[in-house]
Amino acid sequence: MLSFDPAKCQQRQVYKLMTGIIVPRPIALVSTLSREGVANLAPFSFFCGVGSVPPTVLFCPSLRPPDSTEAGNRKDTLRNVEETGEFVVNVVSDAIAEAANAASAEVPPEVSEFQLSGLTAVASEAVRPSRVAESPAQMECKLLQVIYTGRAPGSGVIVLGEVVRFHVREDLVEDFRVDPAGLDAVGRMAGNTWVRTRDRIELIRPK
Ligand SMILES: Cc1cc2nc3c(=O)[nH]c(=O)nc-3n(C[C@H](O)[C@H](O)[C@H](O)COP(=O)(O)O)c2cc1C
Repeated sequence: MLSFDPAKCQQRQVYKLMTGIIVPRPIALVSTLSREGVANLAPFSFFCGVGSVPPTVLFCPSLRPPDSTEAGNRKDTLRNVEETGEFVVNVVSDAIAEAANAASAEVPPEVSEFQLSGLTAVASEAVRPSRVAESPAQMECKLLQVIYTGRAPGSGVIVLGEVVRFHVREDLVEDFRVDPAGLDAVGRMAGNTWVRTRDRIELIRPK
């Protein structure tokens, strides 16, 4: 084995180890609204569910190098969530993988990634940010807590939210079970590599 002490590595090297080892990662395509009302959309693969009582999810926008803008080193998504307390997680299926990737473009806050990606905004029920119509499942969330794990560029910020509404495409859900084949979610590996979820195995849990 090769062993690495992160304290002796560059930030980029640690990032590469983490994104190479922690795979596959599900992708949250996160929709937010700025205080000025600009719709923002960006994918985040440091994303997971936390528990079901209350239904809780988290995703982690990392800090950028500092700049002179009002947002400072916060990504637009983080700034919007901190200012408005609401977001929507949209599941990325294979059909919208390229559009989700287009939404990751580093563009100024006044540009809406809905337009860049060609995805369609549809009104949410319980929060102000829109859902992505083409996404097979969406979760409307209210912010619970924001935790800064550091203040340096590359530090992760944990955004914890409570799901206040689930939406699943009608043909994909039966008795609350979601059909994985129909959902056709994609995930992220390291760098530019993504993964499909079509090669599945069944394992019976021991009693
Ligand atoms: C598949 C994918 C997953 C990503 N995951 C993350 C992530 O977990 N954390 C992060 O900070 N950036 C992540 N990014 C990069 C952000 O999407 C990118 O910085 C985006 O411009 C942020 O947008 P915003 O400034 O509108 O919030 C990811 C990009 C892609 C394509």
